[in-house]
Amino acid sequence: MSQLSVEHLLGIKYLTVEDINLIFDTADNFKKILARPIKRVPSLRDVTIANLFFEDSTRTRISFELAEKRLSADVVNFSASSSSVAKGETLIDTVNNILAMKVDMIVMRHPSPGAALFLSKHVNANIINGGDGTHEHPTQGLLDAYSIREELKKVEGKKVIIVGDIMHSRVALSNIFCLQKLGAEVMLCGPPTLMPKYIETLGVKVEFNLKKALAWCDVANILRIQLERQETKFFPSVREYMLFYGVNKPLLDSLDKKITIMHPGPINRGIEITSEVADSDQSIILRQVENGVAIRMAVLYLLAGKKGKV
Ligand code: CP
Repeated sequence: MSQLSVEHLLGIKYLTVEDINLIFDTADNFKKILARPIKRVPSLRDVTIANLFFEDSTRTRISFELAEKRLSADVVNFSASSSSVAKGETLIDTVNNILAMKVDMIVMRHPSPGAALFLSKHVNANIINGGDGTHEHPTQGLLDAYSIREELKKVEGKKVIIVGDIMHSRVALSNIFCLQKLGAEVMLCGPPTLMPKYIETLGVKVEFNLKKALAWCDVANILRIQLERQETKFFPSVREYMLFYGVNKPLLDSLDKKITIMHPGPINRGIEITSEVADSDQSIILRQVENGVAIRMAVLYLLAGKKGKV
């Protein structure tokens, strides 16, 4: 198979296992290119990509921009706070105006779940979801699974825990879909107040005791507490959260095996993860960020290929 089954990357939910493996194989090739002194290839020359960020981002925004530039695409960046959206323009009008300037692909981060799907139904361009509210963050799910494959040689059969604020996390859902499609077992761990009701119907295990979850897993993907998405208090204090769900070195040292530590970023050091753990040799956090560029190059390249642009 050399083509994706989809025209947009809206969520991992819509990808087949073959799609995911094709993205990984393509990313392997781009990773080799990124290790060369000259990192730029002409694959997306004459393709124009707009990065629309309606929410803050460091990793995703820079990673997409670098991926686009490494592929020789023309890139325009759009930030909602300094655009005419602030004057009341609708999302569809904003995007259609950008597309009128001969833009081919849109990468969008938006605070509303479903925003990328909505856009894909109303405009004529490839849409890539860079995170839609609490719904999905597909390129993060892909780069996380790719990093596990790189570290542990395969994803199938591996036991992965996702720890923390599951309820407000788009990373959790994309990870669950991606890891399960690739044959991993997934367990969620966090305070009961931050665990969505009926989440077990997705085929995941739920464990509220962090030590038991850590003892079960090969990989722990630790999430940030998203205080900006919490209108009410879901736990009594940050200090109590740290005591029950913070991953620290004594906890890891008490296990009879060495597990892999991941975090999608941004990290709240000293809350969900201590600096000692984040910076330890068990952590692959910066490798996740590095792999993000190759994964995003692969996604952009394959979606452009679908449109006959490469
Ligand atoms: N992992 C992630 O989405 O980080 P940013 O919010 O910085 O893009």
